[in-house]
Amino acid sequence: MEFDLIVKGGRLPDGRGADIGIKGDRIAAIEPRLDAPAGRVVDATGNLVAPPFVDPHFHMDATLSYGLPRINASGTLLEGIALWGELKPSLTHEAVKRRALAYCDWAVSMGLLAIRSHVDTCDDRLLAVEALLEVRKEVASVIDLQLVAFPQDGYYRSPTARQNTLRALDMGVEVVGGIPHFERTMEDGRRSVTELCEVAAARGLMVDMHCDETDDPLSRHIEQLAFEAQRLGLQGRVAGSHLTSMHSMDNYYVSKLLPLMAEAGVAAIPNPLINIVLQGRHDTYPKRRGMTRVPEMLKAGIRVGFGQDCVLDPWYSLGTADMLDVAFMGLHVGQMTSPADMKRCFDMVTAESAAIMGLADYGLEVGRKASLVVLDAGDPVEAVRLRAARLCVVAAGKVVSERDAAHARLSLPGRPGSVSRRFSRDV
Ligand code: FE2
Repeated sequence: MEFDLIVKGGRLPDGRGADIGIKGDRIAAIEPRLDAPAGRVVDATGNLVAPPFVDPHFHMDATLSYGLPRINASGTLLEGIALWGELKPSLTHEAVKRRALAYCDWAVSMGLLAIRSHVDTCDDRLLAVEALLEVRKEVASVIDLQLVAFPQDGYYRSPTARQNTLRALDMGVEVVGGIPHFERTMEDGRRSVTELCEVAAARGLMVDMHCDETDDPLSRHIEQLAFEAQRLGLQGRVAGSHLTSMHSMDNYYVSKLLPLMAEAGVAAIPNPLINIVLQGRHDTYPKRRGMTRVPEMLKAGIRVGFGQDCVLDPWYSLGTADMLDVAFMGLHVGQMTSPADMKRCFDMVTAESAAIMGLADYGLEVGRKASLVVLDAGDPVEAVRLRAARLCVVAAGKVVSERDAAHARLSLPGRPGSVSRRFSRDV
């Protein structure tokens, strides 16, 4: 068989050595060794070859707007929302699209080829929705961009959010969002979860809500989300994003809650970088970090994917589209330091998040879409440790980004001329 591209000599995340043969946009063969002719060979000798990174939680309508119109002085979630509200009236279709496309370029260079982005529907113009629908189309050959209709200012609290969210779904936004903890009352929050899940069930859509993004241990909308997922037969199609209140909840209550989430097939999407930055801002010491209970959820059989949430926007002043940064922070805050847990952190920014997004064509298997990333690391744990360079990114069978390995040149008498931070027991 002749291939268009062979990625040669790499190591898969499970440790197998393999050559990957690609024809058109499909993976045609995965074998220990492929000697067939190929249009191009990418040398991945000794390097990790992984499926692409996946970000299951992002805000592409706000990204790269840092400093517009001013900087978040308190660093809180609520000032971020207020700041976004100040910026919203001055947004233009062109500027939102330009920033989103610039971010997509960053994402491609980092091997991040699937993104679920929330898009604010609390703007009667639905300008960001239109802009991101165009972006979704323009990047489709490279990035799987999935959009969530997100009533940022509250589905009931914002007077036109309800009709605008439904309009956004009519326009082709494919996931139903919500923000129950931002409604005026707990009861409104509860009702919003019910109504939005009913909308999703009626339209055959997935659900991903910003849920309990607060330090208030009594914010328990996740309970209602799990109930509705079960009642409406939405198992496997519902995610609760953030879930930071769970950090502060009563332990006994959580021992009841986690099995309910598992039973209802509700996934969790913590956002480690943002959660530890935004939460606990009203505390003195000890200061809570707001990260939800990831190891406990995994143990209960709940699917968990790590999201990035924000890059250079009203809520977060850093970020580089690097999902390994996200995994690195998640690993630390969750104290997930066993070899199995560290590997799991890599999975949570790749395969687990792809499963949450429902990406059926994802993964390094014959017949699937030929998208992958070659990393300057020997295995997933080393990739997280190094936040390893993406040496080559392949999207749907085409090489879309390449860079040199990260070797520093040294000038130290009697020492080697260059140094790599890759680990070898021979040292
Ligand atoms: Fe978010």
